[in-house]
Amino acid sequence: MAEIIQVQGCTKTFRANGVETQALRGVDLTVNDGELMMLVGPSGCGKTTLISILAGILAHDGGAVRVLGEDLGAMPAAQLPAFRRRNLGFVFQAFNLIPALDVLDNISIPLILNGVKRAEALERADDLATRVGLRDRRHHRPTQLSGGQQQRVAIARALVHDPRLVVCDEPTSALDHHTGEVVMEMLRSIALKPGRGLVIVTHDSRIFPYADRIATMDDGRIVSLKSQETAP
Ligand SMILES: Nc1ncnc2c1ncn2[C@@H]1O[C@H](COP(=O)(O)OP(=O)(O)OP(=O)(O)O)[C@@H](O)[C@H]1O
Ligand SMILES: [Mg+2]
Repeated sequence: MAEIIQVQGCTKTFRANGVETQALRGVDLTVNDGELMMLVGPSGCGKTTLISILAGILAHDGGAVRVLGEDLGAMPAAQLPAFRRRNLGFVFQAFNLIPALDVLDNISIPLILNGVKRAEALERADDLATRVGLRDRRHHRPTQLSGGQQQRVAIARALVHDPRLVVCDEPTSALDHHTGEVVMEMLRSIALKPGRGLVIVTHDSRIFPYADRIATMDDGRIVSLKSQETAP
């Protein structure tokens, strides 16, 4: 498959409390096989809205959105959760960890949802927790962790089921430079196998060198697209 994501003319309008916001005004975007696409732009320009649509968390109003060969607009609502659970990893801007669960149980969630047995899921979660440097915190709950540690749990959770598309909203916002590099190396190595793709929303210029292409958004549109050389 040549393209992991193909978006054409995507629009989205929110209506809340009598206010109408055109969050996306016709987005065109392609993410190629094995590509890391970064998405940048000012606050409120539509970045989270766009990646939520790509991840099947939010429905678009108009245009066409194809993800991993599937037309999300045409997919029956009942099929969407299974598609998401098998193929997608999402790192939310606000982490969205489950407060009552410890680190390993939080990381295991996607595996459990996919029917993996708990013992096997915990073993895989332990491996991911170690890779993000949280082995000694594996039985802590989210409130017992720093912001950067919570963010690393969220990243491990997004990768644990080896999804074909990983979408991250500001994945390094709470991380120091070194930890940010560790996480970016890990995201690249796990998410960029053939047949896969990675989309990262960021304001963090320190991680720009990890991108194959950088798309700049403004006011609900992509206004520029830049390719760059990355280390293999
Ligand atoms: N659920 C919602 N209901 C109403 N309006 C919304 C909703 N979600 C987002 N918006 C509006 O849509 C616009 C785009 O929001 P979005 O969250 O996509 O921006 P963003 O680029 O991710 O910004 P930031 O960098 O601050 O995270 C904003 O004006 C926002 O107020
Ligand atoms: Mg956002």
